[in-house]
Amino acid sequence: KSSLEETLLSAIRTIPDYPKPGILFRDITTLLGNARAFRRAIDELVHPYAGQKIDKIAGIEARGFILGGAIAHQLSAGFIPIRKKGKLPHETVRVAYSLEYGLDEMEMHKDAVTPGEKVILVDDLIATGGTAEGATKLLRQMGADIVAACFVIDLPDLGGRSKLEALGVDVRTLIAFEGH
Ligand code: PRP
Ligand code: MG
Repeated sequence: KSSLEETLLSAIRTIPDYPKPGILFRDITTLLGNARAFRRAIDELVHPYAGQKIDKIAGIEARGFILGGAIAHQLSAGFIPIRKKGKLPHETVRVAYSLEYGLDEMEMHKDAVTPGEKVILVDDLIATGGTAEGATKLLRQMGADIVAACFVIDLPDLGGRSKLEALGVDVRTLIAFEGH
């Protein structure tokens, strides 16, 4: 493993049986609280896009907001919050989605994207890919050109990356946990 992978893997805490029995929860709060690990993760996610024109970063509530905000700042891009339903005050587009441990709906403001804008989707982790697929649908519905979807953590056994790639989205992840 690379030193980056070692840094990130050792900065992430694993909590068994949270939020439900049988789920191994990959807790990034320890990574966020580790200044060096947080900076390295953001630098690595940003690196391929330095010098490219990226209009906006779309972050998925809640953990995608933290990473996405930092990435948007570093790329001098705008930020789009994709939120759990009922949280956004203006007109929204809404989509139902399923994830590793449940069903929910998410929303985005209708005017958050101008058609043709180059957008990078950001979240902390991709598991089944249901969440990122829902976000992809919202962004494309409003005409976004999704340059990539970026995550710190991949759970490859849950198939999320393949699901997004099947939609034609370029997926980038920094580390993987086999099994789940
Ligand atoms: C977790 C994680 C991703 C999503 C991945 O979020 O932060 O957003 O699940 O799962 P999927 O690939 O199977 O869809 P969660 O919904 O637990 O909420 P949070 O980020 O608000 O804590
Ligand atoms: Mg999340």
